[in-house]
Amino acid sequence: MTELTSLRHIPHANLFRKGDVFVLFGELFGRGYVNGLIDQARAAGMTIVGITVGRRDDNGTLRALTAEEHAEAEEKLGGRIINVPLMAGFDMDAPEGEQNPTELLSGITLKSWQEDKLDWAKIEACRAAGIKRFTGSVEKAMAEIDKLIPDGANAFFAHTMAGGIPKVKAFLAIANRIYKGRGERFMSSRALLDSDLGKLILMNFDEVTANTLQHLINGSAKIRARLESAGGQVRYTAYGYHGTEILIGDEYQWQTYTNYTQGYAKMRLESVAEAAWKDGVAATVFNCPEIRTNSSDIFVGVELSLFPLLKALKKEGGGKWADEQWKVCDSLLEEGTSVDDILDTIEKYNNDATSAEFRNFPAWPMDNTPALADVMIGTSEEITKLHKDKKELITDHLSSLVLEGAGPLMFHGAAEKIGPVLWLNHDIIAKQLTALHPEK
Ligand SMILES: NC(=O)c1ccc[n+]([C@@H]2O[C@H](COP(=O)([O-])OP(=O)(O)OC[C@H]3O[C@@H](n4cnc5c(N)ncnc54)[C@H](O)[C@@H]3O)[C@@H](O)[C@H]2O)c1
Repeated sequence: MTELTSLRHIPHANLFRKGDVFVLFGELFGRGYVNGLIDQARAAGMTIVGITVGRRDDNGTLRALTAEEHAEAEEKLGGRIINVPLMAGFDMDAPEGEQNPTELLSGITLKSWQEDKLDWAKIEACRAAGIKRFTGSVEKAMAEIDKLIPDGANAFFAHTMAGGIPKVKAFLAIANRIYKGRGERFMSSRALLDSDLGKLILMNFDEVTANTLQHLINGSAKIRARLESAGGQVRYTAYGYHGTEILIGDEYQWQTYTNYTQGYAKMRLESVAEAAWKDGVAATVFNCPEIRTNSSDIFVGVELSLFPLLKALKKEGGGKWADEQWKVCDSLLEEGTSVDDILDTIEKYNNDATSAEFRNFPAWPMDNTPALADVMIGTSEEITKLHKDKKELITDHLSSLVLEGAGPLMFHGAAEKIGPVLWLNHDIIAKQLTALHPEK
């Protein structure tokens, strides 16, 4: 079992400055967590470098970005992008002439998937092919990145990769039921994990979400050695998820979104950082709070834990600025409802015996249940309905605040070299936000 190692102070260590290089290992999306880190790197005057996962042609072949796509991505990042496709996972890989896992799964249906069996020797061969392709591409990309980091500079590698759901039609329907289904449409996450399909998905999550950090650390070893021998320093960060402490009543308590199928891969990610740390490599997984992004929108109810951040902002001395955040959130709600009403609903939800049962850190990640799906998805839908515009939710605003707070905590926390796994709970996020918005 992992020990809950929470960050309890605001780190102030300053390591990175103009001339140092920030390398984004993953792509940048509008609402993504890494925006918080990139803002810090930019403010420190660092040179920003990124990579691409590449794109797939209609026939599934992975390719680099076209000149137009490349220019657009560089414009968005505000830095150079190394155009070597770094799509992780092996769902579309196979030894020459063999079928890849997506093809091997093409026959499964909503009726048959629990009994359908996979040929594990074939799957292992596909996995080996995927790893070979990915590590080969990392090597090529790192040779380019090497040229962009001068001797004497420091480097910050920010890993964001997570994912690995294969594009198999039947699975998309299954995922919809597991993450969004209740009542008749409920589907058990345990049933998925016990099936061959589920086992394959967990393997692919491991490759994309966890093992890529190892490949990044290995692939950049030469750069690390060169920079360190010239007196420079290198840091690695990755985004973890392993539940979050939020205010329930007046106390910060650990809670989690359930069922977080990627949890096993996220624990593996923690072990990658722990092992690297023991070898003298400063790699830190920051376990971050639930926010709404392109990647998390599929998990209905994941956003419920965000609301009590408003209470944390007040508790941690947010003063007038915290009041303003309450007002912004109030203004998004329909007439006749208020943030207070929503916080009451959330408090009830958290005290409901059904959801309280899942606040079990050693048992994480637990399987879903019909009762949990009912109360969690039900509460989520009930709260969403109270907004004036379903496209402008309180959780959008709160997500952007969490991302803003996480940025400096990770940037300076990595510089301080605190440890391999750190939880950013609502207390420290609120403290950091309060420090960023002092009373005038
Ligand atoms: N959103 C949350 O609630 C939350 C909470 C804690 C941690 N995180 C973690 O934060 C990180 C960023 O996620 P986000 O929520 O900001 O969403 P995001 O969609 O902005 O980022 C997802 C990242 O994963 C990369 N990616 C996806 N599939 C990939 C593949 N097959 N190969 C290589 N890269 C791939 C994307 O390029 C992107 O950089 C992830 O590691 C995520 O697990 C998210």
